[in-house]
Amino acid sequence: MPNLKVLIVGASIAGPTAAYWLSKAGADITVIERFPSLRSNGQNVDIRTSGVTVIRKMPMETAVRAKTSQMEGINFVLADGSTYACIKPTGNPEQQSLVSEYEILRGDLSQILFDLTKDNKSIKYVFGEQVMSMRQQIDGKVNGPIIVEIANGLATAEYDLVVACDGATSRTRAMGLGRGSRDYVYPSNCWAAFFSINEDLFAGNAMGHAYSAVGGRFIAAGSDPSGITKVVLMGLSPPGDHSASVSFCDAMKRGDDGLKQFVASHYEGAGWKTEEIMKCMLNSTDFYANEIVQVKTPSLCNGRFVLVGDAGYAAGFTGAGTTLAITGAYLLAGEINKHAGNLEAGIKGYEEQMRPMIAKLQREPPLIRTILAPQTAWGLWVRNRIFAFVAWTRILEFAQKYFASAFASSDKFGLPEYEWVA
Ligand SMILES: Cc1cc2nc3c(=O)[nH]c(=O)nc-3n(C[C@H](O)[C@H](O)[C@H](O)COP(=O)(O)OP(=O)(O)OC[C@H]3O[C@@H](n4cnc5c(N)ncnc54)[C@H](O)[C@@H]3O)c2cc1C
Ligand SMILES: *[C@@H]1O[C@H](CO)[C@@H](O)[C@H](O)[C@H]1NC(C)=O
Ligand SMILES: *[C@@H]1O[C@H](CO)[C@@H](O)[C@H](O)[C@H]1NC(C)=O
Repeated sequence: MPNLKVLIVGASIAGPTAAYWLSKAGADITVIERFPSLRSNGQNVDIRTSGVTVIRKMPMETAVRAKTSQMEGINFVLADGSTYACIKPTGNPEQQSLVSEYEILRGDLSQILFDLTKDNKSIKYVFGEQVMSMRQQIDGKVNGPIIVEIANGLATAEYDLVVACDGATSRTRAMGLGRGSRDYVYPSNCWAAFFSINEDLFAGNAMGHAYSAVGGRFIAAGSDPSGITKVVLMGLSPPGDHSASVSFCDAMKRGDDGLKQFVASHYEGAGWKTEEIMKCMLNSTDFYANEIVQVKTPSLCNGRFVLVGDAGYAAGFTGAGTTLAITGAYLLAGEINKHAGNLEAGIKGYEEQMRPMIAKLQREPPLIRTILAPQTAWGLWVRNRIFAFVAWTRILEFAQKYFASAFASSDKFGLPEYEWVA
């Protein structure tokens, strides 16, 4: 049988991981990325549970470990900077706590995955490209190859399999499933901004700092060994109130500068180090902000067209998107490899393996909004008391159980092992 010809769309996390494993299943792969180069921005992403299992099967754990952030834990601080609670990692990746052992910058992770695949003879990366149109042929009774027309110079060609890894607002998903690009996207009334600032606001302190202000405003910031500060902001509205995401999405249309202005005015008067952080944010060069959404589709495929990563199951708030993306890429390739010669069965196997995991990792832990970003001064006071108590009594096991869906200890899913053909 000739090698399976595969087109992967998107080169962030899901795309390169899928390229890695599909090449081991003996496929010939083209990866196209809309941006002119690998995107390096973003802040920390977590690799947990089955994601840890998968990267351990790849020759990259050392590279990941070398890049994981050296944060010793998180201090929860009040407006005057005093710490009222503190959470540390468990020091054991089998039993991760709220602070993951495998926190890594998204850009670093993407680069590691790219480096691992870029020189492989069966994998070709093409930047500055996207899909224009797709037409699926019917091959007897089953779905046949897909004819793909590509936007900037790559020739129109027939692929046995098209894998959309182009993120939560995937345009390829819209084409492949014949729907609009906002279909299956569920806002969580929350947005987040990630950036670094060229000053060390915490004098090299190895602890991260988390601060909440009324109005659902959450700030996390920490020193980086290179002398800069990394910042994550989250803006949350109460359930059912879409105002925060609506004004955020409006601002997004005005580009990064418009977004920065919006964020700065939203955080006005929030207290603590906010004013300084906002001033530096306006000048930051790696600013990236996005609405936090979940993607839920009735099916992960349409014939030979398949969704992997955020395009198929962005996890939103739970922070499990990267874990799901890495696991999904492994399972798709594994199931195709296992059902060699019967692509339909492989795709079906992938969907069946993913469903329970998606259901579990997309479940938002109860009360997490109230805990992360209370809306009122009263809510904030209560939250802070609870946090201080939890930290003081060290009943982190309790917290872990409570947040089980998002911060589960290592792999309970029992990933299958595959006999790779290549
Ligand atoms: C620049 C960037 C920064 C991020 N920062 C963070 C962060 O700080 N914290 C966090 O938790 N998550 C962040 N994320 C999201 C996180 O990477 C994902 O939630 C998760 O890792 C799953 O990855 P993914 O590969 O499925 O999708 P994504 O990481 O969203 O990647 C999608 C890729 O597809 C490309 N693309 C989009 N449309 C097309 C198209 N039509 N044709 C071809 N290519 C296309 C994009 O440029 C991107 O490279 C970021 C994503 C990006 C793209
Ligand atoms: C890389 O390419 C070769 C053959 O072209 C293949 O056998 C191998 O498994 C590929 N993949 C990886 C991840 O090494
Ligand atoms: C903004 O960044 C530039 C280049 O890094 C720097 O020269 C300048 O002083 C910065 N301005 C502020 C207000 O921080």
